[in-house]
Amino acid sequence: MASLGGLVAGVAHELNTPLGVGITALSSIKDILEEIQTSVREGKIRKTKLDESLATIDELEKLAENNMNVMARIIQQFKFLSIDQTVEKANLFSLNSVVEDIRNARKEELQNVGITFNVDIQDNITLFSFQKGLIEVVNSLINNAIDHAFDSQPEPKIILAAMVRENSAVLTFSDNGVGVDVSIAHQIFEPFVTTKRRNGQVGLGLHIAYNLITQKLKGKIKLLDTSTTSNTCFQIEIPIDISH
Ligand SMILES: Nc1ncnc2c1ncn2[C@@H]1O[C@H](COP(=O)(O)OP(=O)(O)O)[C@@H](O)[C@H]1O
Ligand SMILES: [Mg+2]
Repeated sequence: MASLGGLVAGVAHELNTPLGVGITALSSIKDILEEIQTSVREGKIRKTKLDESLATIDELEKLAENNMNVMARIIQQFKFLSIDQTVEKANLFSLNSVVEDIRNARKEELQNVGITFNVDIQDNITLFSFQKGLIEVVNSLINNAIDHAFDSQPEPKIILAAMVRENSAVLTFSDNGVGVDVSIAHQIFEPFVTTKRRNGQVGLGLHIAYNLITQKLKGKIKLLDTSTTSNTCFQIEIPIDISH
């Protein structure tokens, strides 16, 4: 896994492109404004030319704004990399009701994009663990299904299953989408690995999920081998009692 130094270098690298685009856009706006000021001073301003310049300024401003937003998103996610930002105490909770809460919270959003969310959880799973950390991971997997899984799937579906095996809870989160691109599957939990960079994705979601599961929840997360099917399936294994 990437070291902190590697992460800082990664963030700097990721910020560089949007920052460059932003600076270029702003300096072009400055040039156009100077042109307009000169024409006004010399009394040579023409309406068509002015309209054209204003339209260009408008476009450049949007470009700068979009790139600032990308930077804000990167920094926002970077904050999540420090897993101890929330001082959450481990507590006793029902996995069944936590999952039901997540399902209710995301119901409308999933309905809007036509995704069915099925749950298949063994009755009465009680965990002594970090509830918020687990919720964040599940939400991140849901986000990814929404962002990456479905292309032209007629009946998009995500399934969260869970059962207890010895002293662990085993959760599997799968979707019937396009599957993870083979070119990144082996490094999917590394920071800044994304297939959607141009859409403003930054590739930190699964890295943060990995850190939460392995460090905070003392468990494991893996992408199951999907070479035989085109579906995506993540398996999470966490101790049912973190104090042991
Ligand atoms: N459910 C999924 N289906 C297909 N590809 C996925 C899925 N989840 C993750 N991926 C792939 O893993 C990459 C990394 O995910 P993530 O770390 O959350 O970064 P991001 O969502 O910002 O791209 C995604 O860009 C995508 O290519
Ligand atoms: Mg993501």
